[in-house]
Amino acid sequence: MKRLVVLASGRGSNFKAILDEILAGNINGEIVAVISDHHDAKALEIARDNGIEAVFGNAASKEYNDWLIGTVKTYEPDYIILAGYMRIVPPAFVSAFEGKIINIHPALLPSFKGLHGQRQALEYGVKITGCTVHYVDEGMDTGKIIAQRAVEVKEGDTEETLSARILEQEHKVYPAVVKALCEA
Ligand code: GRF
Repeated sequence: MKRLVVLASGRGSNFKAILDEILAGNINGEIVAVISDHHDAKALEIARDNGIEAVFGNAASKEYNDWLIGTVKTYEPDYIILAGYMRIVPPAFVSAFEGKIINIHPALLPSFKGLHGQRQALEYGVKITGCTVHYVDEGMDTGKIIAQRAVEVKEGDTEETLSARILEQEHKVYPAVVKALCEA
């Protein structure tokens, strides 16, 4: 059984999608903690409701980065799942957990890195976008790609409608990747 730590800043729908597959017995892993830089993140609430350790870290503190590395280490994770974690992971974190950190990005990398991948795709006018699960390295959304799903941009799409269709795919591809990693 692989040990998984989730880092999430917000609503936690990708975390929930992975958790649902674990609860259904489809993933050979256990989420041992959810850590958030927002004390009121929905992700923490979902964790508590499911008896998972929910940990808040104060990113305003100078000690935050060291605290985060130390705290994650105590959970001895096989993988660290970034699920809407809205901070850049510092190099020291990447090297502490080399090859164990994965992220989901709402665009087909290497296009539309950084914030608002869906909005960037709409503004550029691409006809196909999607989502990407990738390993995290020291760059921004530059790590090795693990899986992608394509989503068609439709006439009249807004950032909201497009984001919602991409999110549906995120909720499929992210649990599928976690499942595969937990079987390896
Ligand atoms: C998703 O769009 C994900 O691709 C991006 O942040 C968002 C997180 O959503 N990295 P949620 O918190 O999982 O609902």
